[in-house]
Amino acid sequence: MENIPFDVELSRLVKRYGNVTAVDNFSLQVPRGSFTTLLGPSGCGKTTLLRIIAGFFEPDSGGVFILGKNQKGIAPEERGTGIVFQDYALFPHMTNKKNLAYGLEIRREKQSVIREEIANTSGLLGLDGLLDRYPGELSGGQQQRLALGRALILKPRVLLMDEPLSSLDAKLRLKVREELKEIQQRLGITTIYVTHDQEEALSLSDYIAVMHEGRLEQFGSPHELYNTPVNAFAADFSGPANFFTADGKTFFARPEWVRIAESASSAEEALPGGKALVLSGRVIASDFLGRLVRVRIRLETSGEIISAEIPADRGPPPGTAISVTVSRYREIN
Ligand SMILES: Nc1ncnc2c1ncn2[C@@H]1O[C@H](COP(=O)(O)OP(=O)(O)OP(=O)(O)O)[C@@H](O)[C@H]1O
Ligand SMILES: [Mg+2]
Repeated sequence: MENIPFDVELSRLVKRYGNVTAVDNFSLQVPRGSFTTLLGPSGCGKTTLLRIIAGFFEPDSGGVFILGKNQKGIAPEERGTGIVFQDYALFPHMTNKKNLAYGLEIRREKQSVIREEIANTSGLLGLDGLLDRYPGELSGGQQQRLALGRALILKPRVLLMDEPLSSLDAKLRLKVREELKEIQQRLGITTIYVTHDQEEALSLSDYIAVMHEGRLEQFGSPHELYNTPVNAFAADFSGPANFFTADGKTFFARPEWVRIAESASSAEEALPGGKALVLSGRVIASDFLGRLVRVRIRLETSGEIISAEIPADRGPPPGTAISVTVSRYREIN
């Protein structure tokens, strides 16, 4: 069984709450050692799926296989999974050290082993010096690391994380995100991570599963998802996306695939000559983003609005007539 390249396999999982189908015929193979993300909008079934993997509830049908073994009827603590919840679910009345030790004490490990594991885990996560405090006396980022430590100390085969950064402010989120990636890579632990944040998913993941209404829309690397989404939902959910029609077809392009140049008059229309599409339009607004300017443009023929992101200090003012060159694009449904 050890040579199976997938640590977790989900086979045609279905979970209903009354007449809501939260997970709809969902299958996925999670490669060993990978950082795999479930990405999708609120309510698409991410938490439900994670909890089925962890064993908090059984699916209505379909199976969860961990290291090749069917988990049907296997209790959460027997599955070799560790979970970090969105709200951390730390025990507020216990010191941080007790929080870390909790799972090992339930397992009735020897005190010497517990001491050693606490030292290892707090060293790994930079929690030394904080162990005698209580969770309420930690910063958001420290609480997040404690919650991660509480899962990792049990040496899970598979780490499950449900939006673990969502209660941190933007700057701390970025820092903790980088730390998380480093720790995951150092330990090589198979990780299933839940988020609705596309940038977080793209930057952290080896693989992303895009979810929509309980179903899997696309599974692939961040690069595949960003550059070759299989449909409009996957395109829109994996980054900023433009959709526009030309020659009666719908196309998709990322804003950085769009170039603009000022044109004296709106001359030619939709010339799908060669590789690039050339369209004409008029600037609605130029938004300063710091490193880039986002220029929003109304296309002349279709009236559709698309965005270009260009490396510049400022974009053309509203009303400017421009020619729009879409250097990369894909037909999409
Ligand atoms: N206990 C429950 N009873 C009834 N419906 C539920 C229950 N839990 C979840 N649902 C519904 O199932 C669907 C999936 O919920 P789930 O919590 O898995 O979504 P999610 O992707 O984690 O969303 P979020 O990003 O908001 O956390 C939603 O429509 C939700 O309303
Ligand atoms: Mg959720």
